[in-house]
Amino acid sequence: DKGGWPSFMAKEVSEEPEAVANTLRGRIRDGQIVIPELDGLDELFASINRVIVIACGTAAYAGMVGKYALEQWTRVPVDVELAHEFRYRDPVIGPDTLVVSISQSGETMDTLMAVKYARDRGARTLSICNTQGATIPRESDAIVYTHAGPEVAVASTKAFLAQITALYLLALHVARVRGSLSADEARLQVLELEAIPAKISRILELEQSRIEQLAYWMADTRSVLFLGRHVGYPIALEGALKLKEISYIHAEGFAAGELKHGPIALIEPGQPVFVIVPSPRESALLHSKVVSNIQEIRARGARVIAVAEEGDVAVLPFADEVLRIPLADPLFEPLLAVVPLHIFAMGLATAKGLDVDQPRNLAKSVTVE
Ligand code: BG6
Repeated sequence: DKGGWPSFMAKEVSEEPEAVANTLRGRIRDGQIVIPELDGLDELFASINRVIVIACGTAAYAGMVGKYALEQWTRVPVDVELAHEFRYRDPVIGPDTLVVSISQSGETMDTLMAVKYARDRGARTLSICNTQGATIPRESDAIVYTHAGPEVAVASTKAFLAQITALYLLALHVARVRGSLSADEARLQVLELEAIPAKISRILELEQSRIEQLAYWMADTRSVLFLGRHVGYPIALEGALKLKEISYIHAEGFAAGELKHGPIALIEPGQPVFVIVPSPRESALLHSKVVSNIQEIRARGARVIAVAEEGDVAVLPFADEVLRIPLADPLFEPLLAVVPLHIFAMGLATAKGLDVDQPRNLAKSVTVE
């Protein structure tokens, strides 16, 4: 049931605040993380010396975001790998490796086979999944469910936010077990997480119709680029993927620092470029680097659409459009910056008259290798 929305995707984007809130629900007590599903695993979390995250598509981008938080808080090295690449090389894994799989459906064959492969090679496996009783969690040593609710539209939206939320909960939990974060430090991060749902609602309230209008104007666009740095990089990849999936427009996401090593050659007058701008308050150095990237592409005629924090005026002289997100600590910005990109992809597909829920050639869950 679309509940009055024009598409399941529109409904699911509107549910992004709840997807985060429901994934947090019952897992925070007195400012600390409590995940009953992980009881009894302290010894495992204390002993691991490596984490490998495996997933496909949007779930892999959630993994890339999670890497920043996992490494920062737990100090355990993290690799993120596409599930179908992982098992066709000879990865270095063993009992000290925790393999974290991420899958909305829990049925993606590539991810399932990678989990089995990891388990057979002696690694410990943990599944982040949105579907109760699905195959991947059943094949894993531990499970953290995301509680995004059923996702029907083929292109994943609210599940992506729930996956990042679950990874952050896991990272904080592991950090407390290992003692790499104090109770007070963890409490501050928990406060940031708890503030996210209201901030997403604010984006939907203040920016959604403006972004849809922008998408409508851009319906004839043939190619869109996305730039991001640090946690904004996987968000740039996700913004590009969503546009390819549902609006069939060529789109590429790049790490902003790569620009001068290649992608800048693509910039010609009128080329639309979304730029995810880091917070100027919290990461002044990164912010200034991204602003200079914006200046470089603008000088070559790019049409710049900045996704920037409320109050960031430094981007104004160089951006053609500024989509605003509320203030947050840098690690939490992905949970906000992705929302305008989901709205944009949906708006553009809608403006082109496409079926946003059932894009051509794609399936919600790919159960063949
Ligand atoms: C793709 C879907 O086939 O599978 C994507 O179109 C999704 O939206 C990807 O991100 C992974 O699916 P899952 O269920 O493993 O998260």
